[in-house]
Amino acid sequence: MSSSAVAYARQNYPRFLNELKALLRIPSISTLPEHKGDCRHAAEVLAADLKKIGMENVRLIETGEERGGGHPLVYADWLHAAAKPTALFYGHYDVQPTDPEDEWLSPPFEPTERDGNLYGRGTCDDKGQVVAQVKALESLLAGNGALPINVRVLFEGEEEVGGEGIEAFVASKPPELKSDFALVSDTELFAPGLPTLCVGLRGMIYTELEVRGAKTDLHSGMYGGAAPNPFVSLAQILARLKDENGHILIPGFYDDIIPPSPEELAAWQSLPFDEEQYRINEVGSKQLVGEAGYSVLERTWARPTVDVHGIPGGFIGAGAKTVIPAKAVAKVSMRLVPGMTPAKAFAQYKSYVEKIAPAGVDVEIRLIHSGDPCLVRVDNPYIKAATTALHEVWGKDTVFIRSGGSIPIVGDFDRHLGIPSVMMGFGLPDDNIHAPNEKFHLKNFELGIESLIRFLEEAGR
Ligand code: BES
Ligand code: MN
Ligand code: MN
Repeated sequence: MSSSAVAYARQNYPRFLNELKALLRIPSISTLPEHKGDCRHAAEVLAADLKKIGMENVRLIETGEERGGGHPLVYADWLHAAAKPTALFYGHYDVQPTDPEDEWLSPPFEPTERDGNLYGRGTCDDKGQVVAQVKALESLLAGNGALPINVRVLFEGEEEVGGEGIEAFVASKPPELKSDFALVSDTELFAPGLPTLCVGLRGMIYTELEVRGAKTDLHSGMYGGAAPNPFVSLAQILARLKDENGHILIPGFYDDIIPPSPEELAAWQSLPFDEEQYRINEVGSKQLVGEAGYSVLERTWARPTVDVHGIPGGFIGAGAKTVIPAKAVAKVSMRLVPGMTPAKAFAQYKSYVEKIAPAGVDVEIRLIHSGDPCLVRVDNPYIKAATTALHEVWGKDTVFIRSGGSIPIVGDFDRHLGIPSVMMGFGLPDDNIHAPNEKFHLKNFELGIESLIRFLEEAGR
């Protein structure tokens, strides 16, 4: 099937790539306060581009405490396809921090092409995919003169920090979001060249666990043996969150889990997946760990986790300092699966930690952010249109997968707006998202744009 929008995209691809690179040079790291201005700058660049390609009602929507405390949303629409459905395009322009800095082969905010890939922070997660959406819209508007369906665009800048601002906006059910389905481009293909739709995500709670002992830091010779050491107490607590078989020890944690159906499990069995390849190429450890009796795909898609991300505090300089720190903190998160809720998981975790806290220390558990797990519906014409379009572009049948990651807003689209999401993303499993040397496969940027164009054309037939 020929499409003048696809022809336009092919002709303009070099410019699309340059525009993506310009966006990638903006260090829009949402979690670091010193990059607040960069986040706004990225939002402004996207808004300007949406305006330029002919989208309407383009504006930034402020978020956060009394509005303006958070990073803005970018809104746009084009609603002239009478009697056709309306899509809500979603992606995020914020990125993760870049540490450890010296492991990058090229600087994180200088997008660099190497062997068919574009390297840089945000290339895959998620600026490459956001720009793919915008360029699909541009190609349709310029190549065909109109969009085949109605489109609203909602990009956020707080996805990597829990997405509070967009949640509040979506929960208020504003008329600007009235749509038939969401198109989410923030996921990956299961394998190179294999068209994939993601139909489930894990949720999460992200917490800080603080342990306090003495009223101040102490000389470890004078007081060691009598004063509590919060790092040791913290380690004892962390060591009791999971047993050596990977089973989480928080009472009741597994009670509400809805396991995948036998059909879904059977479908996962037939995916092209080799545990040993995964261990060597993606993880790179000498052994995989986790719950006995579950495959790697089940462990990462359908089972909850506990992970520790960092333990700030105490003496971390070069050399030695003999101190008993007054406090220790661990950043601890849990991934949640369908059936579980952040509120209940947090309550269970908190009361368990309070119960097992060693003598002599106080513990405080703070919730930093949370998001619900989700499963999306597949019995709708949009999923059908997506698989048709993907078959045309990639020449293969689509596989349906889940992902172990979280995109908090997807559950909210269902809960608050009552719409299904089509999670069509073009990352690859080894794109190093959140890690040094993040990349986006250039062919996937190109075919991603074509897939999105063809999807909209199919959805408008
Ligand atoms: N795009 C990812 C989520 C993802 C990763 C989906 C891989 C599918 C495959 C997203 O940007 C992300 O990293 N989300 C955070 C959310 C959290 C901070 C609330 C995550 O999963 O850690
Ligand atoms: Mn993402
Ligand atoms: Mn991410």
